[in-house]
Amino acid sequence: MKKRILIVNSGGDCPGMNAVIRAIVKRADREQELEQDTEWEIIGSINAFDGIIAEPLELVSLNSKTVRGIHVKGGTILMTNNKRDPFHYPVVQKDGSVKNEDVSDLLIYNLKVHGFDAVIHIGGNESHKISQKLYEKGVNIIGIPKTINNDLSVTDYTFGFQSAAQTATEAVDKLVTTARSHNRVLILEVMGRDAGWIALHAAIAGGAEVCLIPEIPFSMEKILKKLKSLYNRKGRGFVNIVVAEGAYPIGEKQNIVSGAISRRISSFLKERNFEADVRETILGHLQRGGSPMAFDRILATELGVKAFELVKEKEFGTMAVHLNSQVTNIEIEKVIDKYNKVNLSHDLIQTARGIGVSFGD
Ligand code: F6P
Repeated sequence: MKKRILIVNSGGDCPGMNAVIRAIVKRADREQELEQDTEWEIIGSINAFDGIIAEPLELVSLNSKTVRGIHVKGGTILMTNNKRDPFHYPVVQKDGSVKNEDVSDLLIYNLKVHGFDAVIHIGGNESHKISQKLYEKGVNIIGIPKTINNDLSVTDYTFGFQSAAQTATEAVDKLVTTARSHNRVLILEVMGRDAGWIALHAAIAGGAEVCLIPEIPFSMEKILKKLKSLYNRKGRGFVNIVVAEGAYPIGEKQNIVSGAISRRISSFLKERNFEADVRETILGHLQRGGSPMAFDRILATELGVKAFELVKEKEFGTMAVHLNSQVTNIEIEKVIDKYNKVNLSHDLIQTARGIGVSFGD
């Protein structure tokens, strides 16, 4: 008997994506060694769902040789895209314009024609909204959570997050030394979209004085007060502010545009003639690239192995997750039900406050 699994990764990349692909492929190879009457074929879709939608299809056969050593590498060998939702897929029209169309039936048709028994979809929140819709249309789908934002619920962590938090922490470490040398206020803006996990981790690990996250709207005046308290009469002192891209002042609207919030804080401090030099650093995609930390490699490997097993057990419509330190599965529907934002009673908020970090509230 022959079984075919399609791996699709979609959304933004993150450290650990290659490790999860390798784990699925190696687990399938292992299965074949054990159960020789079933032949498992693992195929990758290039550039998210493009590979199985856009003619000519771009499907690559994956085996232990093609995935050898990729678990240490950043990015994804399959390439990815966050603008390839099959329910709103960009289709070029006769006049050259592009219109978003629902091509999910074409996707399902192609899966059938090419003999796929199941799809393993690696993605973040938005990607798994697609997984759920495809499942409801009859696709045998298994999800795997990934994202640097750590904003998926019902999983302890998403792989990619720890590596991104490490990169952000290293940036704080470097900024601290130069802030101290120049008596400056240095603002580091990190990613995370609507969740402040990266900022919170980097602020605690790196020792920032101020941490601004979307879950706690802040007051500019309170930040100014905190800054003043950290400079002496001679104007000596330094401050490191870690701000999440989704953070926003009380009474204002959230505006997630790279660099917007750090420039907004910086201009406020300049307008108020704050005595120290204020500079901004936008960490950007450095947080998404590079080799995954051991934690993310292990988590990705665990979830890849589990996803293959869920295909075997026909647990479709569920996602492989790490919950309460156990690898298990849960309905995709439950995972996408709400975002995993920083809960204000979370231990890390108390820890940060306990060491004097200001959230500007
Ligand atoms: O979702 C991951 C993420 O890196 C967010 O933290 C960030 O807001 C967004 O993607 C950036 O996306 P893009 O690379 O498309 O600008």
